Amino acid sequence: MLDHFGFLAPFYERFIPPPDGERWKELLNLPVNGRLLDAGGGTGRVSGQLRPFLAQLVISDESPKMLAQAREKLRCCTAVAHAEKLPFPDASFERVMVVDALHHFADQRRAIAELVRVLKPNGRLVIEEPDLHKLVVKFVAIAEKVALMRSKFYAPEAIRDMVAAHGLRTEIQTDGRFAAWVIADKKD
Ligand SMILES: C[S@@+](CC[C@H](N)C(=O)[O-])C[C@H]1O[C@@H](n2cnc3c(N)ncnc32)[C@H](O)[C@@H]1O
Repeated sequence: MLDHFGFLAPFYERFIPPPDGERWKELLNLPVNGRLLDAGGGTGRVSGQLRPFLAQLVISDESPKMLAQAREKLRCCTAVAHAEKLPFPDASFERVMVVDALHHFADQRRAIAELVRVLKPNGRLVIEEPDLHKLVVKFVAIAEKVALMRSKFYAPEAIRDMVAAHGLRTEIQTDGRFAAWVIADKKD
């Protein structure tokens, strides 16, 4: 399989607009005196901004080259791992996030089961995905197929249902443009 992100790693952040840190603080209900896992976190483009509001940031990703960028920039803890099989014990993190990566995972259901497993009771999981209801996102989905990127996009409601199946309280927010967030709270 082609290593798209390994190739893009050195210049990845030059092409992607910076995230809205304030929005992410709200989405993840920060600050928190605890650990945040950014799964499929790549270079730490988003979670790197949130560090002042946490006790510890851990970025996991299948791409060693994306993580090397994260370490160089953030000197943070990283783990080369597939989201479908995370190398952490149950209930390890107060917060878990996935940004623009779920559609790249090989098995979204398995990954979601893992994200929920490593989340602590009373913790929060936030998944950002391009909003498949938007025409431009449908085109992106086709373009990624043409580029042999193995992507599989789901509408926000389908992602919400996959997460809710594990008993979490869920809601969807959108920015009215291209992004949708599934926000999920794990019960005590
Ligand atoms: C579009 S990038 C997003 C990176 C980062 N979350 C961001 O928003 O800047 C998608 C990331 O998902 C990672 N990825 C793809 N499949 C994965 C998997 N099965 N497990 C873990 N990471 C994966 C890629 O290596 C890449 O770093």
